[in-house]
Amino acid sequence: MNRRGPRRNHTPLEDTVDHRPVRHLISIDDLDDADLHALVARGAAFSAGTAGRPAPLAGDVVGIYFSKTSTRTRTAFSSGSLRLGAQLISYGPDDLQLNTGESSEDTGRVMSGMLDVLVARTAGDPAEMRSWAAQDRMAVINAMSADEHPTQALTDLTTLQRRFGRIEGLRVLYLGEGNNTASALALALTRFPGVTLELRTPPGYGLAAAFRERAAEQAARSGATFHERHDMLDVPADQDVVYTTRWQTTGTTKPDPNWRQVFAPFQVTTALWEASPKAVFMHDLPAHRGDEVTAEVLDGPASIAFVQAENKMHSAMAVLEWCRRGPVPAGEHLP
Ligand code: CP
Repeated sequence: MNRRGPRRNHTPLEDTVDHRPVRHLISIDDLDDADLHALVARGAAFSAGTAGRPAPLAGDVVGIYFSKTSTRTRTAFSSGSLRLGAQLISYGPDDLQLNTGESSEDTGRVMSGMLDVLVARTAGDPAEMRSWAAQDRMAVINAMSADEHPTQALTDLTTLQRRFGRIEGLRVLYLGEGNNTASALALALTRFPGVTLELRTPPGYGLAAAFRERAAEQAARSGATFHERHDMLDVPADQDVVYTTRWQTTGTTKPDPNWRQVFAPFQVTTALWEASPKAVFMHDLPAHRGDEVTAEVLDGPASIAFVQAENKMHSAMAVLEWCRRGPVPAGEHLP
């Protein structure tokens, strides 16, 4: 399903600008199955060093706008853009006239005449990014919004593809908040046949209903299995992956002063490996050792969290290339 907004009529002056067709990534739902598979395969090729050194963004200007803090995603898209031949303009939280009341529609209209790609992290819902994408002249990439973190899910699947050589059939146990990382992961993994995704989220902190329902629908269609529970009883054994995220999701606070007590049983500890000795541990980072995961697990032999972090750049390169050039076969060397 493509959720692009309506294309606005351009002025004659705007139409003198030569823009190639663009693709937006605002939700995993924007990708059909073929695009999702292509992005994962291409990200894995960049990660493996088999994608060559293409420069599909040569001559492009990429805007990087982060209204919230970021270490990995901002660096991944900045470094990835430069490596693909683009030039960068970077905006921090205090830089745009959005702060002084300019509308998001006007912001997108102006930027789309000057930028080829806008990579944005906002505190809002996707409507703001959809309004920027409505121009259909500048590609818009969601680098995390309040509800979804689609480029994190692509990184995660790229990491799984590199580690296991497949996504199909993997058994994934997710512990922690049903946040934007969990939402995107659920939308992505339930597209793959044979995947079992079990979420154990603290009561009151589960996936938003729309994401839960969509993941369940997709699983029924694809042959995946999807469950969410709010306790730690009968945790499934023989998992391939145990995944968590930090308890204080970027840009959010928890009104309940006792939230730590609710989250405490969902901490990832070595005890989980008694039942799943072959599982790898994944974490989108940043981590808070002693909260969502013990240091023993995060820094232990099962952890691939820092490989996963590095794959953010490789996956970002696949996304940037796809936005400007469309799907590229994993091993193809573009000029
Ligand atoms: N995982 C993630 O999005 O990290 P940053 O917040 O550092 O970008």
